[in-house]
Amino acid sequence: MFSLQALQQRIGDAFSTTRFDREPFRLYEPIAYTLEMGGKRLRPVLVLMSCDLFGGNIEDAVYPAMGVEIFHNFTLLHDDIMDNALLRRGKDTVCRKWNNNTAILSGDTMFVIAYEYVAMTAPALLPQVLNLFNDTARMVCEGQQYDMDYEHRSGITIADYMLMIRLKTAVLIACSLKLGAMLAGADTEAAVKIYEFGIELGLAFQLRDDFLDAFGDTTKFGKAIGGDILTNKKTYLFLKAFELAKGETRSTLEDLFFSNEKNGNEKVEGILGIYRLLGIDEITRREIEIHHAKALEILSSFSFSDEQSGAVNGLMKEMLGREK
Ligand code: IPE
Ligand code: IPE
Ligand code: MG
Ligand code: MG
Ligand code: MG
Repeated sequence: MFSLQALQQRIGDAFSTTRFDREPFRLYEPIAYTLEMGGKRLRPVLVLMSCDLFGGNIEDAVYPAMGVEIFHNFTLLHDDIMDNALLRRGKDTVCRKWNNNTAILSGDTMFVIAYEYVAMTAPALLPQVLNLFNDTARMVCEGQQYDMDYEHRSGITIADYMLMIRLKTAVLIACSLKLGAMLAGADTEAAVKIYEFGIELGLAFQLRDDFLDAFGDTTKFGKAIGGDILTNKKTYLFLKAFELAKGETRSTLEDLFFSNEKNGNEKVEGILGIYRLLGIDEITRREIEIHHAKALEILSSFSFSDEQSGAVNGLMKEMLGREK
């Protein structure tokens, strides 16, 4: 069994020894910029961890794991255009440092590179691995479309939100775990169960992301606080606030939400004030805990050793207790 640190180190080494910049420079420089600046690299670590948990050789999983991470980074390049984001991982987003066209084309190229890496899978397993990856990639796009649609729609429910984050975020986390299990030759039942575990973990992870977008610290989070508020995202925080706000608070919330004339800071500060007033931070923390607990319940149905469960719990803690 590899420790969490050893798995992180293995993925760090895999990226630090791979060069992504080549000609034409304007196409590949943003790719190198994105992949070399890191990020938490949670998804490839999940691939290796799962492969290890089910008795596989992690070396067989390194390239597919890199593929998943490159795919994730591709979604970020396009996501930052869609979300008008200027800051990521404490640095300028690709669309800001270069421009939208560059983020589109370098992103597209990363999508192709992601497939090249995922395809470096044992030939006998490749058809099923590609099926999983194709389904996942399509679902992420579906989730991203709902995310944008909801910016302009009222009447969005918590259930709509949960479906949206399941698609845009949780399926890739779940795919990472299932991929690791497949590469280790785990049976179907185990692969399905680890996928379900990944879905609950992924839901909690996106809830934490939405929480940090409102209550985090930019210097740690590396993204601008209030980005979701400015782009009218129907986050869990917003939907809960809308559900709970009554009387004057409700009309202030509506005014702030629907007015795009207010200067950005006024809108963010106003809505954050209402979130605090309504205890949205605590309510969101509880929702994260619900999905964390569901994930733990699924985990306990495997007969993992204490050492194995310890490594999984360590990674879960990093994912859900994160400030960045
Ligand atoms: C950001 O993912 C996008 C979400 C799904 C919330 P991460 O928080 O894993 O981003 P990096 O790769 O560590 O920067
Ligand atoms: C990210 O959702 C989902 C994907 C990138 C697919 P967010 O838009 O909340 O992610 P961040 O906060 O920009 O990282
Ligand atoms: Mg975004
Ligand atoms: Mg987004
Ligand atoms: Mg976010």
